[in-house]
Formats: sequence, structure tokens, C-alpha cells
Amino acid sequence: MDDERYARCFFAAVAPAYPLVEWLFRASYRRAVELLVAGAGGVPLHSALDVGTGTGLLAGVLAERLPAVTGVDTVPAMLRVARRRHHGRVSFLEMDATCLDFPPASFDVAAAGLVLHGMAGARRQAVLEEMRRVARHRLLVIDYIPHRNPLVQAIEFVERGHYREFIAEIPDQLRWVGTDLSIHPLNPVLGAYLVRLGGQEGDNGRAERRECP
Ligand SMILES: C[S@@+](CC[C@H](N)C(=O)[O-])C[C@H]1O[C@@H](n2cnc3c(N)ncnc32)[C@H](O)[C@@H]1O
Repeated sequence: MDDERYARCFFAAVAPAYPLVEWLFRASYRRAVELLVAGAGGVPLHSALDVGTGTGLLAGVLAERLPAVTGVDTVPAMLRVARRRHHGRVSFLEMDATCLDFPPASFDVAAAGLVLHGMAGARRQAVLEEMRRVARHRLLVIDYIPHRNPLVQAIEFVERGHYREFIAEIPDQLRWVGTDLSIHPLNPVLGAYLVRLGGQEGDNGRAERRECP
């Protein structure tokens, strides 16, 4: 089974138990969103897209600070939990993050929580380019920082993630799509990676939408 199909089956199977991860990481996610808002430097952040939203943890935390939040994911079972938990506060859509069905610059912020380490380099790059295309001002990535403890190793084993490649490649990939990369540890294993889009606010030199299958 290829990576992508395995991930879909894996997340469909763990969807009912995933709120445990929300309980573990909610405080760290809140800290990341504080950093995002504080770092905006006066640029008003109104709307956000959360790609690979899962059960909507990051989307829900973003919705505490921003009035218009959308979450997308490819796994219906995760989205069912997300809609139940965040009903009326966040819009959730079934959509592939490598091929987002939104016009350029649709959101002020594009965010991804614990999504990108699960992808091999080219796929991760495709998601980042789509995030840049649909966002105007900032990207927020919450994901692993270099600290591979036994818990991370166990999760990586069952999830079939790409921890090592992610840690090695993500700083350059983020510098490729944005500027002023800053990395903020949130807890021993997770960090907030923040980048600004474009040389001028609102102008990120975004490319056209990718050809979608
Ligand atoms: C580890 S979960 C993280 C969920 C949530 N962002 C969080 O921080 O709790 C990874 C999620 O990414 C989703 N995902 C993986 N590849 C995706 C893709 N290409 N497009 C959209 N969602 C994807 C999975 O279905 C899963 O729900």
C-alpha cells in the first residue's frame, strides 16, 4: 500500500481516539496561535485555512482568535469528528491539500498542524506551495522540532511518517515559500514554524494553481 493510502486508512481508523491528541497538545497550539497573532505586526488577520485539519484542533484554536476559519482534510471520518466538535464555528471541507480548490490569496493565513512530517519531500513541497498560493500574509506550521524521543519514534512507526527528512528539509522548504522564518519550541517535541509571505505584505509572488489529477 502506498504512503497516501496507508495514511488515509490510518487516520480513518484512529479518528474516534484522536481527541486524546487534542487534549495533549491544545495548550501548545494556543501558544502557537498567540505567536502568529503577535508576530503579525499590525497586519489584521481575519481568515485562516487549516490544511490536514483532522478533528479540527488547530482550526478550533485559530477560531478563538480569527473570525473566519476553514479546515480541509481528505479523511471523512476525521471531518465527522471535527464537525461535531466545532459545529458552527469552523467550516470543514473534504479536500486534498496538494490541490486546494480556492482562488489565490483567499485567506490571510494558511496553517498545518502535524501534517507535513507525514509526507515525503515532494508532496510536502506541493502542500507548502498550495498554502502559499491561497494565503496572503502568513504561514503557520506546527510540527516536530529536533528531539526524537521514544514516543515520537513509536508514533512515527505506526504512522509511517518521515520524521528525519522533515527535520532536515522543512527549514529550507519554508524559506523557499516565504521569508523571515522563525521557529518557536512549544513543548519538548513540537514547535511553531512561522513565515511571512512575500517581500511586501499581500504580495507573495504566488504561482498559478497546480495541475490537479
Ligand atoms: C496527524 S493528523 C493532524 C490533525 C490536526 N491538524 C492536528 O493538528 O491535530 C494529520 C491529518 O492530515 C490529514 N492529511 C494527510 N494528507 C492530507 C492531504 N494531502 N490533504 C488533506 N489532509 C491530509 C490526515 O487525514 C490527518 O487528518
